[in-house]
Amino acid sequence: MQDTLNKMQEQALGAISAALDRAELEAVRIRFFGKKGELTAVMRQMGALSAEQRPVVGALANDIRSSIESALSQAAEKLEAEEAAERLCAEAMDITLPGVKPTIGHRHPMSLVLSQVKHIFLGMGFTIAEGPEVETTYYCFDALNTGQDHPARDMQDTFYFDAETILRTQTSSVQIRAMEKSKPPIRLISPGRVYRKDKIDATHSPMFHQVEGLAVDEGITMADLKGTLQTLMEGLYGKGVKLRFRPHHFPYTEPSAEVDLECFACRGKGCPMCKQEGFIEMLGAGMVHPEVLRRCGIDPEIYSGFAFGVGVERLTLMRYNINDMRLLFENDVRFLRQFV
Ligand code: DAH
Repeated sequence: MQDTLNKMQEQALGAISAALDRAELEAVRIRFFGKKGELTAVMRQMGALSAEQRPVVGALANDIRSSIESALSQAAEKLEAEEAAERLCAEAMDITLPGVKPTIGHRHPMSLVLSQVKHIFLGMGFTIAEGPEVETTYYCFDALNTGQDHPARDMQDTFYFDAETILRTQTSSVQIRAMEKSKPPIRLISPGRVYRKDKIDATHSPMFHQVEGLAVDEGITMADLKGTLQTLMEGLYGKGVKLRFRPHHFPYTEPSAEVDLECFACRGKGCPMCKQEGFIEMLGAGMVHPEVLRRCGIDPEIYSGFAFGVGVERLTLMRYNINDMRLLFENDVRFLRQFV
């Protein structure tokens, strides 16, 4: 029996060291220690031995058992470590590979220009007012001195919901809403969308954006208007830009002016960019008509004010030297990406 045991030990240790993975190791364990295992069978026969042999064989069997057990557990540890190392290798990240760059959006060029405009006016003590895009004809026309039969109304007779409700054609309506609500001193700008029946081309769109400006106080003069607009244009286009005020007519200002900016392409000499004018038309402005003030409950004998309205698309085209307004609306990222 001792021989059998010794042989068994030899076979077991051999099988253990030959096991390639933990499943094979488990098979070895079962082969010797399982219910029908070889060593289990030998142990069962122990009772049949003589009283002298039993402790000797018993001791040997126990030794062999524990030597196989410890070989099993050592081999298990070793295999486990190898498997873990293999797993680590397989799952390892190559940190030298270039990463996937997240695509981060950025602001639209008009949004960039508008925030510059806001910044410039906030710096001069203006606040920002808002008004509705669906507007009444009263705020859009009548209160601005543009009665039912006024010829200036034709150009802007556009998108009606009913006889008195319209998509606003100009942000000037916000002037009236603001003057009805608050009394002088008033200093505000109001950016927003406006709508006209214009056909789409390089300089027109049925929807575009304006920034309205209004200042009402005692002693406001045309000089304040000129200084304010000069500050705006210098803020956007750089120190020393030249503005030209041309007499014009708007029903809600007296006097009225159209304001041009010296062409930066030719510096006033005349070129295709400014259609040989030397200047490019930028905005409308003037001194608030006394009748408009009176209608809003502000005494024109005490107060005066200036107002202006400027197109944000126009400001943006000039700011970035873009030659077609449609580019601003088409949302082609190859174009937009240039204005980060
Ligand atoms: N509302 C005019 C337009 O849409 C622009 C304008 C002109 C606004 C004179 C004003 C102003 O406030 O005083 O063409």
